[in-house]
Amino acid sequence: MKGFVPTPDQVVDGMVAKLFKERPPRPESAVLDPGCGSGAFIEGIARWCRTHGHTVPRILGVESDPVRAREARRALAHLKCVTIAQEDFLARRSARFDYIIGNPPYVPITGLSESERRDYRMRYSTATGRFDLYLLFFEEALRSLKPEGRLVFITPEKFLYVRTAVPLRRVMAKLFVEEIQLIDEATFGDLTTYPTITCVVNRPACGETRVVLRDGAVRQVHLSVDGSSWLPVINGTGTAVPTHTLADVCVRISCGVATGADSIFVTLASELSRKLQRFAFPTIAGREIRVGHGMTVTHSMLVPYARTGELLREERLGDLGAYLGEPARRRRLLERTCVARKPWYAFHENPPLADILRPKILCKDITSRPFFVVDDAGVLVPRHSVYYIVPKETAGMRELCEYLNSAEVHEWLTAHCQRAANGFLRLQSHVLKRIPIPSEFAATPQLTWYDTKAASA
Ligand SMILES: C[S@@+](CC[C@H](N)C(=O)[O-])C[C@H]1O[C@@H](n2cnc3c(N)ncnc32)[C@H](O)[C@@H]1O
Repeated sequence: MKGFVPTPDQVVDGMVAKLFKERPPRPESAVLDPGCGSGAFIEGIARWCRTHGHTVPRILGVESDPVRAREARRALAHLKCVTIAQEDFLARRSARFDYIIGNPPYVPITGLSESERRDYRMRYSTATGRFDLYLLFFEEALRSLKPEGRLVFITPEKFLYVRTAVPLRRVMAKLFVEEIQLIDEATFGDLTTYPTITCVVNRPACGETRVVLRDGAVRQVHLSVDGSSWLPVINGTGTAVPTHTLADVCVRISCGVATGADSIFVTLASELSRKLQRFAFPTIAGREIRVGHGMTVTHSMLVPYARTGELLREERLGDLGAYLGEPARRRRLLERTCVARKPWYAFHENPPLADILRPKILCKDITSRPFFVVDDAGVLVPRHSVYYIVPKETAGMRELCEYLNSAEVHEWLTAHCQRAANGFLRLQSHVLKRIPIPSEFAATPQLTWYDTKAASA
């Protein structure tokens, strides 16, 4: 069984009310519940019809799991207009429906077999990158709507902004996205899904989308049609294309070095033997960057690469070769699947040392509050939990860092970053690259940010 998360009755009732809002079903209307589980939405529809004095329409529930499908059949046996099909919803094609409601399965790509991934990639435009099954359910369900038909789905909010959902946002933006409601994070108990209810009508895109935020605020927005993130308009921070972005003034914005075996390559600097010092670089992990405090550097990374970035030949490793080749360490290094096609002592990814060993700005990858620090000397090797930003010009780097720590950048990052657990922000290089920066940083890097603010005041 894949992705079973039952929907609480209260949420079901709210969604059914949206489904039939101003357009109650007729007895001959066709309703679909894809991934119906044990029938929570179908029972909700029956409740709504009872309360509002309507005949229950024809309902098809599709459920791939035999146990759930049996449970649904048993629970809904008294409703003759209900059919439960034990089938794979993503294998269906022909029928069209006036209403579709559901809570599709959330199954990440890692929960799918190789053949499922291949098959879905061939059949669904939304099956790109590291897709999740609920994106495909959205696509299939939208395709199954009759003209003027309405869909109401509850899903994680991620499809509003992740890159993987660019194709889905394009598909949805062709239709009328009537409402997006971000609902209480606690709806599904401990599962941190940031649930969102989306209503779409199968009619060419028209007018504005009503957005209801988690604090109850309501706004009318125009969603972008090019697949770009909807988060900025949803959060009310607009979609104006900035004149300059951080990428314009940097030679590199990347995630730090992934060795694939930090326990071997990273060691306390104070315990480093003198023989290994010539291979060692001070290194920093995300947890060592403390908001408002700066950073503490306590460790060194042993780097079997030349400063130009090439892997040293084994015979040139000297003392480092002896250290890494000690049987237990060598065994651990060989266990790394990531280096299956590389020499046993190589890192997971070749570190671009020529860029890394330059003055740069660093920040933690997942954080409650993004905080940027400067490595003036350009000696630190960031680990995988740190992003590094290498400006083209070193002059003005501190001011750039100060700007990145400003309230306006914090607000921008809050609107554009993906969220990890506990509301933490997940910084990613493609988002960092798009941070808008004042044009003065791009034109005259020696000018400071506060100079330019003062000048324009
Ligand atoms: C998130 S649960 C929702 C269950 C129910 N609709 C509810 O809200 O309580 C998703 C359901 O989809 C079913 N499912 C997963 N993959 C499916 C597929 N390919 N076709 C049909 N059902 C599927 C799961 O077994 C699970 O019961």
